Amino acid sequence: MLFHKKDRGPAPLPQVLPAHVGIIMDGNGRWAKKRHQPRSAGHRAGAQNFRTITQYCSRIGIKVLTVYTFSTENWSRPAEEVGGLLSLFKDYLEEALRDFMDENIRVRFIGDKGGFPPDLQALMGRVEEESSVKTGMVLNLAMNYGGRAELSRAARRFAEDVQAGRAKPEDMDESCLAGYLYTAGQPDLDLLIRPSGEQRLSNFLLWQCAYAEFVFFDILWPDFKTQDLDKALQIYASRQRRFGGV
Ligand code: IPE
Ligand code: IPE
Ligand code: MG
Repeated sequence: MLFHKKDRGPAPLPQVLPAHVGIIMDGNGRWAKKRHQPRSAGHRAGAQNFRTITQYCSRIGIKVLTVYTFSTENWSRPAEEVGGLLSLFKDYLEEALRDFMDENIRVRFIGDKGGFPPDLQALMGRVEEESSVKTGMVLNLAMNYGGRAELSRAARRFAEDVQAGRAKPEDMDESCLAGYLYTAGQPDLDLLIRPSGEQRLSNFLLWQCAYAEFVFFDILWPDFKTQDLDKALQIYASRQRRFGGV
């Protein structure tokens, strides 16, 4: 699914925009370390930048943005860092909800909400519910998300449907499986951006990335600017996507 510049605002953006952009917000800890600050300061700066970049994506006409915020593996970090992240999510979501509403953004959480403390779960539910009337960009916040967990959850839910007589084993095919994912009904990922210098997926959107274009940046997430996003969009527009064809 492609979105064309003629449908929206002015240049310098390329002709062809990705419909679905994914961002792995990485490098907060290293950003803080470079400044001799605690890692929590990096996470705060990262959250602030998330706000800027999300607003920008919505304004330039990206249809779906998925940001990797907390992975199923991030629970293995020291308790102090995990606790700090959970309280940052809570403070931050309250504030960000206003932005989402003003920008006509609809928020969806992808991942297992059940792993979070009840007050954070309630807030996540409220953000989803209040923004559900919005008609602009869909923002998927990947929190307690892992691609493998998502796929095994899909398999389990399908097995339950078969057991209950709601589905038959022969119903299973690619589109059926896609319908059991958190991203059901959304386009596959077109462009994956990972700042911080790491060049790996870290369990992000394994299924949805099948034909995504990857753009890696040697910039830590809190330093990632809207101009860097423009650059990723330019690179994306210059790529030839073949999807196995010629
Ligand atoms: C990304 O930054 C934020 C989360 C994973 C929550 P990191 O905390 O991974 O930062 P680095 O990679 O250690 O620099
Ligand atoms: C990926 O970053 C997860 C998020 C950005 C939320 P990590 O920092 O956890 O990934 P690894 O450990 O470097 O692969
Ligand atoms: Mg990291």
